[in-house]
Amino acid sequence: MDDRDRVRDAARIAEVIGTYTVLKRRGRGWSGLCPFHGERTPSFSVLEDPPVFRCFGCGEKGDVFTFLMKKEGMDFPAALRHLAERYGITLSERPAQDGDRRRLLREVVGEAALFFRRQLREAPEGKAARDYMEQRGLSAETAERFGLGAAPAAWDALAVQLRRQGFDPEVQVEAGLVRPNDRGGWRDVFRNRLIFPIATEMGAVVAFGGRLLPGDEGPKYLNSPETPIYQKGHQLYALHLAKEAIRQADRALLVEGYMDAVALHQAGIREVVGVLGTALTPEQARSLLRFTEGKRVVVAFDADQAGRQAAERGGAVLEEVARAAGIVLRVLTVPEGKDPDAYVGAFGADAFRNLLDEAPDLVAFRVDRLLASVDDPRSVEGRARVLEGLGPLLGSLGSQVMAEPYVRDVARVLAVSEDALTRDLRRFLPGRPVVARRTAMARPVARQRAVEARRGLLAYLVLHPEGRPWVAGQVAPAMLPDEVAAELLATLLADEVTSGWTDWLARLEGTRAHELLLELCFGEDLLPEHDGEQVVQNYMDALHLDHWERTATRIRNDLSQSGLDRDVANQLMVEHLEAIRMVKEFEARLAGRVPGQGMGHG
Ligand code: CTP
Ligand code: MN
Repeated sequence: MDDRDRVRDAARIAEVIGTYTVLKRRGRGWSGLCPFHGERTPSFSVLEDPPVFRCFGCGEKGDVFTFLMKKEGMDFPAALRHLAERYGITLSERPAQDGDRRRLLREVVGEAALFFRRQLREAPEGKAARDYMEQRGLSAETAERFGLGAAPAAWDALAVQLRRQGFDPEVQVEAGLVRPNDRGGWRDVFRNRLIFPIATEMGAVVAFGGRLLPGDEGPKYLNSPETPIYQKGHQLYALHLAKEAIRQADRALLVEGYMDAVALHQAGIREVVGVLGTALTPEQARSLLRFTEGKRVVVAFDADQAGRQAAERGGAVLEEVARAAGIVLRVLTVPEGKDPDAYVGAFGADAFRNLLDEAPDLVAFRVDRLLASVDDPRSVEGRARVLEGLGPLLGSLGSQVMAEPYVRDVARVLAVSEDALTRDLRRFLPGRPVVARRTAMARPVARQRAVEARRGLLAYLVLHPEGRPWVAGQVAPAMLPDEVAAELLATLLADEVTSGWTDWLARLEGTRAHELLLELCFGEDLLPEHDGEQVVQNYMDALHLDHWERTATRIRNDLSQSGLDRDVANQLMVEHLEAIRMVKEFEARLAGRVPGQGMGHG
């Protein structure tokens, strides 16, 4: 067996995936909320034999490697190494160069994190940062928890230390820790700063933010550049420390700064992550939503103008990502011109929790802002301005029912009747919810039956390989009109395949049949427990029926061509009769076996 198979066998897929979403036992496997898309009811399944996962909602599927690659953005060698380490497998093959490089970068950044921590904890050079930490009210315990550190004021303290540990300057530079100076030497990027390590969701440090200390000059915060192991828009500050709390509170609070996140955690409000000075990205939004089952996200930003703008920008992205999942976003505006850190410092955790619990949803927040932007909302001009903004705002809700609570509030502020306001907003809001209309056209029953039969038969072979000879005696891959299905059937029926799963997956790697195979691992619903054989026999008969129907049609087409050789035409007519006879026969078989019901079982 190669490394891949050994690791796949050793890894417990439900355990690996279980750290991303809560899985509950169900049938042969596990089910839970899909960690790839937002959803409220579980459509995500994991099996142990074969070890694969699949989401019926968004269609993501694969094995334990694919999972980590998709979820953690790892490449295959990284996923392989990660799992090998976790499950104690020694790899025989040398991992790819690329993976080596990333590992080295993580190592050097990890060492830098340790260095900074030591400085903050005990070094004389760390005193300024220690004092500042104290001044900001951060406890030693908080410092440990967040791995806070101190960058000494010296030019190259870190560079020298890392050099001593055997890291080349080039690696240090690539990791964003060190820069060349003009004299052909190296200088530290972070000097005389309080250091905030930025970690992955798993807690591995990949970058740093460094805060200016009092009395020094320069930008307030310095951040690591993007590196092969750090993509800004993908990371959320403190997610590894917040994810459990987010799960428990079933909500996530998004703040703007390092200090805000740290201070709130210290105050016992731990469902908090930081976006670090950028607008929220879809990746960040998605990683948040994985931890809150109810998809509850609150954005907290400073009350100043910039903060509000940020809230709306981030809100727009989150809103977009969230809309599909039916999330109601809420916006926490911190009053008194403070940021969350300052507010919790001044008024305490309970006061902040109140703000959090009372945060209005995004629409209410925008309506409030609209009303606040108008000098006198009861003046003619004021009412006109509000109306103008309100239409598009509430229009996004899509229905009068949804808009009603807002309309009621606004009507009160404008001192107009709710009815009048509703009438004015009518052109933005449909009276009835828009329902997708179904075409009344009958489904092509036979075609549908054939598709179901194809999937059912394949699922049967996948789940019951012992039935192979029985099926092989009746059906041939060439009978299937769908190439992918035919390829899969051929593989499932192949004589030389002995080990089932491992062989199938390996043979079909990278093909569409591989995907179909993964899908069919979850095809139990196609196979009822009682009358199992009967149903499979029906599937096979339905495939024959479909085959002969298609054959008959094809022959008719051929016959309709002009200028046919007489003998050829005669031959075709004989074949057509034969095909029709077969159609009748399989129709009769199916009808006889399941009288009046046709195919299927439910
Ligand atoms: N930021 C940055 N570079 C700056 C200023 C800010 O990267 N020059 C980012 C940091 O992630 C910072 C966030 O924007 O945490 C919010 O900025 P600000 O509100 O100024 O910082 P605070 O976190 O409130 O820091 P402090 O309380 O120490 O002033
Ligand atoms: Mn602050």
